[in-house]
Amino acid sequence: MHRFGLSDLRCEYRVNPVGIGVRIPRFSWKLTGTGRGIKQSNYQIQVSDGDPLFQSLTWDSGQVQSDQSVHIQYEGKPLKSRTVYHYRVRVWDSQGRESDWIAALWETGIMDSAEWTAQWITCDLERNNRSPEASQMLRKTFEAGESLLSARIYATALGIYELELNGERLNENKFSPGWTSYHKRLQTQTFDVTDTVRRGKNAIGIMLADGWYKGRIGGHPNNFYGDQRAALLELHLIYEDGKQEVIITDDSWRVDTGPILMASIYDGETYDARLEKDGWSSSSYEDSNWLPVSILDHGMQMLIPQENVPTRVMRELKPIALLRTPAGEDILDFGQNMVGWVSYSVKAPEGTIIELAHSEVLDRDGNLYTDNLRSAKQTTRYVCRGGVIEYYEPRFSFQGFRYVKVTGYPGEMSLEAFTAHVIYSALDETGVFECSDESINKLQSNIVWGQRGNFLELPTDCPQRDERLGYTGDAQVFIRTAAFNMDVASFFTKWLRDLKADQLPNGGVSNTVPDTLPGWDLHSAAGWGDAAVICPWTLYLCYGDKRLLEEQYDSMRLWVEFIRNLGDHEFLWNSGFQFGDWLALDAPAGSYAGATPKDFIATAFYAHSTDLLVRAAQVLGYEEDVAKYTELRKKVVEHFNLEFVSKNGRLVSPTQTAHVLALSFGLVEDTVRTRVEQSLIELLEQSDNKLTTGFLGTPYLCSTLTDIGRIDLAYKLALSRDFPSWLYSVEQGATTIWEHWDGQNADGSFWSADMNSFNHYAFGAIGDWFYRVVSGIDTDAEKSGFKHTRIRPRPGEGLNYAWASFQSMYGEILSLWRIEDGMMNIQIILAPNTTGTVILPNCHQEEVTEGGIRLAETEGVRQVIAQDKDLRLELDSGSYQFQYAWHL
Ligand code: BGC
Repeated sequence: MHRFGLSDLRCEYRVNPVGIGVRIPRFSWKLTGTGRGIKQSNYQIQVSDGDPLFQSLTWDSGQVQSDQSVHIQYEGKPLKSRTVYHYRVRVWDSQGRESDWIAALWETGIMDSAEWTAQWITCDLERNNRSPEASQMLRKTFEAGESLLSARIYATALGIYELELNGERLNENKFSPGWTSYHKRLQTQTFDVTDTVRRGKNAIGIMLADGWYKGRIGGHPNNFYGDQRAALLELHLIYEDGKQEVIITDDSWRVDTGPILMASIYDGETYDARLEKDGWSSSSYEDSNWLPVSILDHGMQMLIPQENVPTRVMRELKPIALLRTPAGEDILDFGQNMVGWVSYSVKAPEGTIIELAHSEVLDRDGNLYTDNLRSAKQTTRYVCRGGVIEYYEPRFSFQGFRYVKVTGYPGEMSLEAFTAHVIYSALDETGVFECSDESINKLQSNIVWGQRGNFLELPTDCPQRDERLGYTGDAQVFIRTAAFNMDVASFFTKWLRDLKADQLPNGGVSNTVPDTLPGWDLHSAAGWGDAAVICPWTLYLCYGDKRLLEEQYDSMRLWVEFIRNLGDHEFLWNSGFQFGDWLALDAPAGSYAGATPKDFIATAFYAHSTDLLVRAAQVLGYEEDVAKYTELRKKVVEHFNLEFVSKNGRLVSPTQTAHVLALSFGLVEDTVRTRVEQSLIELLEQSDNKLTTGFLGTPYLCSTLTDIGRIDLAYKLALSRDFPSWLYSVEQGATTIWEHWDGQNADGSFWSADMNSFNHYAFGAIGDWFYRVVSGIDTDAEKSGFKHTRIRPRPGEGLNYAWASFQSMYGEILSLWRIEDGMMNIQIILAPNTTGTVILPNCHQEEVTEGGIRLAETEGVRQVIAQDKDLRLELDSGSYQFQYAWHL
């Protein structure tokens, strides 16, 4: 008998989440076991409030006959705030085998903002003769009694904060409370401090800096969200006898500034160790000369428990070289463009200033290049205390860099003394793609590093220059790739709620979310605002998250209505602000927008978003909307054709992007389609098989070529090393994805200083083609979230093997193909409790074996259908090894 059970219990996508606020949480688990065709037939969930032995239950689902193992909703009594809920699950399989119970927990935060009793505390530093740039330290002592059962801190800030308790830094979270549309939604965090609070006197400390709230952001000077930082905190002590005490932020707290003289998201940090206040967060510290705090009247209505995973230090790197540049500067090379900060230890006389300037690239002479950072200084400055070995690590600023210029470091610099701390939202990595071409593998690594660098609280355009904003266009272009590489469900759920919160009353969508461009009239560009529709739909496909679709549906619909109501033509989108095919190579001189007319692109996206809206309405059973928006899409497509396509099928715009969008969004049909396909191929030939596409055309280029039967051309583009191509940057030594195809030229010169990020994931959207086409792992909209997987490996010239593995909500999905000694070997893994349709390319039934056995006798193969030159198999879950002679 095969082993059978379940594992990886998750509540709202997370393992044992603490401090969440979902009122009807959903549970998911994975079935485990060897063998084929593992299928859940029944499940049972029990939930108890605070009782790990499950003797008193708040909910018992009973035995439910169902094969659903993800997103099962809690249906028990209403949940309370600040409560630990234990839950356990057992399942039965189709053969009646029963698993053991597996238990996990989740804990609620303060779910209702009206429950907060703390007060916002702040300090007007300037009025108190302190530098307004310096970080604040706030503290309070308190007494704790005997027999403490549990202690929890609930906290947030206007600004960014870190906590200390009894002299200890409290947790690994960085940049709390994250970045949201602060006036409407501000996340609160929950910390379990049961083990740190001690009987008798304790002290609690809060370090508070500007962050996104008060620091400069986008083109805005300081104070974009508000001109006062503030902190809000409640510490709940619960004793074994049931007694409760609550310590809150109020006017009894004290405040002062300390060693952090300046901390800015863009500019770095200045830290004077001589101003450290030793033991400031311990109870014995003497704070009589500290200032009283003042109370800020800010309201609580925007408070929500944390929705996405916090930012953490996710890995550490050591420098690989110390370079002495032609300009005579000392530069550490970390070998990888990344995001985070550098720590070091040093022994130097008091007052020594050590400065670290961060940059992504060196110029053609080998000197540090910082022009592309524009106004962002990315510099940390440390003033030594002297006499001892000191350690410095910045807290409230992050840098995008590979190279670090060090000045002021005394004596010989040892590589050992420096460490780079890579930070990003603590997302689980879920995808691997690898193939026989090392440059493609490097490209894949660059894509993942681009994601690491830019998934910091929200999907940003870049992490180094003076933007680092949640550009909607970049996010929608990359989301599908992102969802393979990492589990981004809660990350994007939170961001989409901000999108919705900042959506204009007329349905318009800001080009950055949270909206940092209000009043600039730069909102709702095609391909940017469409994130409102494309992102929830993609998450539905990848995670089967119907609730999210439901939650975002109004926002999706409003977006489509916004387009419909814009300008004076209901079925064309030919007015309003547009970015066009951003950074396309066919852009006229002096413009960032490619040659494809903006109204062509906009109308194509109008049709595409309407199409996805129809699909969402179908999933949700909104029949009226299905009819209404099917009709709207039909009209838009009709007018698209009237306006942009000649009767004979010539597009008004002879660009690759125009052709790719028309084909990919299904805007042309029959003979017109055939002609457009043909023209796309001709356009490629005319440009010597070189791409010319920008942000909006590129993501669809290789998949469109694949769909029109020219995967050979897609392979050519993907494997090309010449400029312009994905591998061109790899050839130039890139370790992340560049914003521009020609970010740095072969002679080391730069295309421009103005708009030249070396860590911009948009063109990394090719990752989706590697996963979905080359290795062939794709979703099925009918059974989304990989309940059913479509796998169609697509070998092509230039590769002799490729494989991808993806950790779906159900478990691993894998596809590997390898051509060796005239044989094709294909390995497939389908997670338990899922099924798959697998297409074996160029395969005859008589020739193929699975694990050495003829297909007809193979367990788990439900159906075999010959389809053109391929063989289509319907498979049960499990691992399969197919083999057949390979001849084209
Ligand atoms: C950003 C882009 C963004 C664009 C809008 C740029 O400055 O870096 O990635 O989408 O503005 O066109």
